[in-house]
Amino acid sequence: MKKMMTPRNFFIQTFGCQMNVYDSERIAQVLCAGGCRQVNDPAQADLIFINTCSVREKPEQKVYSALGRFRRLKKKNPNLRIGVGGCVAQQEGQGLLDRAPFLDFVLGTKELGRIQEVLEDMEKSGARGCAVDLRGRIDPYERLPLSPGPGRATSFVSIMQGCDNFCSFCIVPFVRGREVSRPSKDLLEEISILSSQGVKEVTLLGQNVNSYGKRTAGEPGFVELLEKVQEIPGIERIRFTTSHPKDLSPELAEAFGRLPKLCEHIHLPLQSGSNRILERMNRGYTREEFEEKVLNLRRACPEISITTDMIVGFPGEDDQDHRETLQAIEKIQFDDLFSFRYSDRPHTRASLFPDKIGEEVKQRRLSELQAIQKRITEDKNKAWEGREVEVLVEGPSKARAQERTGRTRTNRIVNFSGESVPVGAFAKVRVRHAFAHSLKGELL
Ligand code: SAM
Ligand code: SF4
Ligand code: F3S
Repeated sequence: MKKMMTPRNFFIQTFGCQMNVYDSERIAQVLCAGGCRQVNDPAQADLIFINTCSVREKPEQKVYSALGRFRRLKKKNPNLRIGVGGCVAQQEGQGLLDRAPFLDFVLGTKELGRIQEVLEDMEKSGARGCAVDLRGRIDPYERLPLSPGPGRATSFVSIMQGCDNFCSFCIVPFVRGREVSRPSKDLLEEISILSSQGVKEVTLLGQNVNSYGKRTAGEPGFVELLEKVQEIPGIERIRFTTSHPKDLSPELAEAFGRLPKLCEHIHLPLQSGSNRILERMNRGYTREEFEEKVLNLRRACPEISITTDMIVGFPGEDDQDHRETLQAIEKIQFDDLFSFRYSDRPHTRASLFPDKIGEEVKQRRLSELQAIQKRITEDKNKAWEGREVEVLVEGPSKARAQERTGRTRTNRIVNFSGESVPVGAFAKVRVRHAFAHSLKGELL
């Protein structure tokens, strides 16, 4: 490989969950601190970094199509360096470099903090880089200094990485490693810095936030951490994701009624309405226990909006199991739901189960589930028509530049006319129309 020059312009393409969005932001901050500039057009870049997701086959395939696109750019510009990071990088490691000879480096999920080092090593040696060590309980953000810029109202903050739950369908424990909580001192400092730059809302991220601090002596537990964030001046809204239903404690449910900054929304993935399937998924709760937790949440905070994830077509799922899933979503009445067709993932136990479901059946079950939830979500959104809501303004709306967009405390997107309302303002808005995925209102 030709020796690389220090990159001047970099482009980051991010796939996957909020944690990848956060990771990409942190990498961008480090590269900017090193004198590089972030560009929006990959053709302008001399470094392209693709942050990847392998939770299902479809997102995993995205990295290969992206690599195909960027390969053409490299033909035009041989000085271009291309790196792949995140969960596919962790999963495939050296295999990705073997498969794509034009790829320069891969960076695993716990090696993000080494990006500068990997780039420098490549510059010195002219060799390709591969850093995918997943061992140990190390904090991957330790070596990533924080330097966020002003101009935004909301921010993600990763509080922990990894997962020890090993749900039988899920690749995350294999690509994000064991649970590691970040030191609370670092987190609280990071949130204070964000606040001083104008951030009003933070979303605390982890694959399983309820386990925060459990393995580290002297660290607060998750509810205590929320209480500490609540004390930070300037932060007006706190959210978190994702909370595992089996670990949702009565104290956390009660915190929704007690902590004024904690927004009235929780994402609580049910995955299936059938106890037989939940057991095969190794989820650690029954449908009845899940319903009990929902009841506790609604008791503590009647306004709370509850969203969920569901998987259809898990190995061995029969028509009766599927009916139970449909009954569960009718009964629980989630505010919104993300639904997925089961997808085989390497290393997982479910990938070895013999009784796989055909794609046609999965698609039919998905459509049935989505039709029911569409009606429920629309009814729930309709109930907001005529009501006054508080919207934290995040910027211009996607569809119309003269409109502003933001979210209610219950995490509903609201668009309204009001060009002059600045980012970071709390606007009082009357909801006029409910749509499937957003509300439209007028500024009061
Ligand atoms: N940690 C979160 C939890 O425990 O619910 C979820 C993490 S996962 C990144 C997001 C969602 O992807 C899951 O809730 C699940 O519904 C879905 N998912 C994960 N593995 C899947 C698979 N093999 N096939 C289909 N959907 C999957
Ligand atoms: Fe995956 Fe289960 Fe961990 Fe969530 S709790 S990341 S679904 S193994
Ligand atoms: Fe995907 Fe990794 Fe997130 S597999 S969903 S990017 S933790």
